[in-house]
Order: sequence, then structure tokens, then C-alpha cells
Amino acid sequence: MIDFSALPRRNKTYAGANGSKIAVMYEDELYMLKFPGIARKNKDMSYANGCICEYLGCHVFEIAGIPVQKTLLGTFTRNGKEKIVVACKDFTTPDTVIQDFASLKNTIIDSEHNGYGTELSDILMAMDAQQAIDPDALKQRFWDMFIVDALIGNWDRHNGNWGFLYNSRTDEMTLAPVFDCGSSLFPQADEDIMQAVLDDPAERDVRIFKIPLSGIRQDGQKINYYDFIYSGKNRDCNTALKRILPRIDMKKIDLLIDETPFISDLQKRFYKTMLAERKEKILDRSLQKIRKKERNPAG
Ligand SMILES: Nc1ncnc2c1ncn2[C@@H]1O[C@H](COP(=O)(O)OP(=O)(O)O)[C@@H](O)[C@H]1O
Ligand SMILES: [Mg+2]
Repeated sequence: MIDFSALPRRNKTYAGANGSKIAVMYEDELYMLKFPGIARKNKDMSYANGCICEYLGCHVFEIAGIPVQKTLLGTFTRNGKEKIVVACKDFTTPDTVIQDFASLKNTIIDSEHNGYGTELSDILMAMDAQQAIDPDALKQRFWDMFIVDALIGNWDRHNGNWGFLYNSRTDEMTLAPVFDCGSSLFPQADEDIMQAVLDDPAERDVRIFKIPLSGIRQDGQKINYYDFIYSGKNRDCNTALKRILPRIDMKKIDLLIDETPFISDLQKRFYKTMLAERKEKILDRSLQKIRKKERNPAG
């Protein structure tokens, strides 16, 4: 178990609304330490599980073969109180800074909406219109992330929660590793909720077919992951599903959860069950339907 409390600090700061963050040096490398936020929806909880969710969500991206920040779990003690924190290895370099998709979207002069607008048609238009990065690679990353976010139930992939590394020496822009998966895997569920969900298939189905919704909107409404992916209407989304699903190795996911420190057996069962059922009911079912439609376009 890593204790991050006494590590040398750095003056680098990080934005973001979900809890405190500090920069520390760990094994000669810079890390952003994320502290647990307050559980707003569930006031009985001392704090949200966001750090565990960040760690698990990022590792599911890794299993899916999508470049992602390196994360470690550990503790941080302050005023005698120990907290579980997640350390995110800082992926910037002396030459490169992070630029989020929102700021790239701001470069589209004709756009009706601002950079933080998450209407899907507007995002797709901006990805085609921008000139900093290959649009096909950009769209591929967007849809790959959408599929994994559907699996882990991420409700917060807004335009500030993904982006690029900009090299100010060469003017080159590349896709940044995935970061901020803290709003995934039901971070506000306490152990009572987890037990109730494990005991009742109807409670699980709500958390598969109804919630959480995506941060991306269609006609002003937040996208329902199941409805959208199952509809098979977006070709790039279908292609991403075909590309990503074979890489989702449930044995690796179970091992990841089994080896995650700090969490109880109940939590482990909850995460394994929700990921297995979301995979089966959202992703597997959608791919079966899409393949059937391809074999028999008329039927
Ligand atoms: N691994 C990282 N390396 C460098 N910068 C990061 C990293 N992860 C996040 N950031 C930057 O820090 C900001 C806050 O982090 P984030 O995880 O999004 O926090 P929050 O959950 O509060 O939104 C991000 O918007 C991004 O600009
Ligand atoms: Mg964020």
C-alpha cells in the first residue's frame, strides 16, 4: 500500500470541480493526487468512491487497449484522518501542455455553440472542421471512448474531460491519454445500495438501461447509452463497437477488481456484476443486432 502523505510537493495546479488535487513527486515522476469529493447525492456517505472509480475506470480503458493515464491507489493522512486517494501520473512534458476538446471546438469560428456545448451533431461537425489533428483518428478516439464510457457508466465525458497534448516547440497536437473517469461505476453508491442492487435484478436493469446517461446530448437530451448504441444508427459508433468489444476481456476485468486494494468483497461483487451485465446487455446485445441487420438488411 502506498502512503502518499509525505511526498515532496510541486507547485503545479490542476483545475476540475470534483474534489481537491495536489501535485507530488513519486518515484521521480510527477503525479496529480486526486482526493475524494463530497457525495452530493448521498449525504449519508462520508465521501464518494470517486477515487476507486477513477482507478477502475482507467484500468478498463487500459484493458480495452485505449491509451490512458497511469493510476495508482494509496492513502493520504491529514489531521489524523486517512483518506483513499488516486494518483494520476502527469502525462504532460516540459514541451507539451494539455488542451481540452472544448478549446479545440472553440476554434470553429462558424459554430453556433461554445466549446463546452455537448450536442452530438455540433461535436461531430467540429471534429470534421478542425484542422489540428487527423479527423478520422479524432472521431475514432471519440467513439472508442463512447463505447468504454457506456461500459463503465460514465456520465461526465464533457468536452473538458478529454483532449490533446500540444507541443509548443513543434506546434504538433496529438491525442492525450484518456483521463478523468471518476464519474463512472456509480461512485455515489454506498454499501447498502450495492447490496440492494445485487439482490434485485430490477434495480440492476435500471442501472443498465436507464442510468447513468451520457454527458453528450442529442436534440438537447442526454443520450441513453443503451438506446443509442442498440439503435445501430451511427456508423462510426457501430464500427467502434466492433473494434472495442473483442478487446473487453472479462477475465482481466475480474482480476483487476480482485486485486484492487481497499475495497470490500461486497464492492468487488458489485463492480464485477455491473460491468458483466452492462457489457452483456448494452454492448453484446447491440453487436448481435447490428450483425444480424448486416446479414439481412431488409429484415
Ligand atoms: N494525468 C494527467 N496529467 C496531466 N493533467 C491532467 C491529468 N489528468 C487530468 N489533468 C488535468 O487536470 C484537470 C482536472 O483533472 P480531472 O481528473 O478532470 O478532475 P475532475 O474530476 O475534478 O474534473 C483536467 O481537466 C486536466 O486538464
Ligand atoms: Mg474533469
